[in-house]
Amino acid sequence: MSPRRERPELRIGMVGAGTMARAHSAALSLIGPLYADLPVRIRLVAVADINGTVAADLADRYGYERVAYASASSGNRTAVELPAGL
Ligand SMILES: NC(=O)c1ccc[n+]([C@@H]2O[C@H](COP(=O)([O-])OP(=O)(O)OC[C@H]3O[C@@H](n4cnc5c(N)ncnc54)[C@H](O)[C@@H]3O)[C@@H](O)[C@H]2O)c1
Repeated sequence: MSPRRERPELRIGMVGAGTMARAHSAALSLIGPLYADLPVRIRLVAVADINGTVAADLADRYGYERVAYASASSGNRTAVELPAGL
C-alpha cells in the first residue's frame, strides 16, 4: 500500500453563524467523507458573528477551532478580529 499523500489544508473562516453558516458548515463537514480523493483537507478554523453565543454554538456543533469576534457593522462593512495565525 502506498503512503497517503499529504494534502494541503483549505482553512475555512465563516463570517456569520446563522442558517446559511449552518448549511455550509454541514456541507463542509461532509466533503471529506464523500470525496476520498479530494486534493485538499478541509479545516474549520474560525467563526465570527456579532452574536457571540450563536458563533460559539456553531463552533461547538461543527468543530470550528476558534470563535472570532465580529463587531457591529458600519454600513456594509464588518470588522472581524481574527485570531493570530489564521
Ligand atoms: N437562508 C437562505 O436560504 C439564504 C439563501 C441564499 C442567501 N442567503 C443570504 O445569506 C445571508 C445570511 O442568511 P441567513 O439565512 O444565514 O441569515 P441568519 O439571520 O440566519 O444569519 C445571519 C447571521 O449573521 C450575523 N450577522 C449579522 N450581521 C453581522 C455582521 N455585521 N458581522 C458578522 N455577523 C453578522 C447574525 O448575528 C446572524 O447570526 C443573507 O445575506 C441572506 O440573504 C440566505
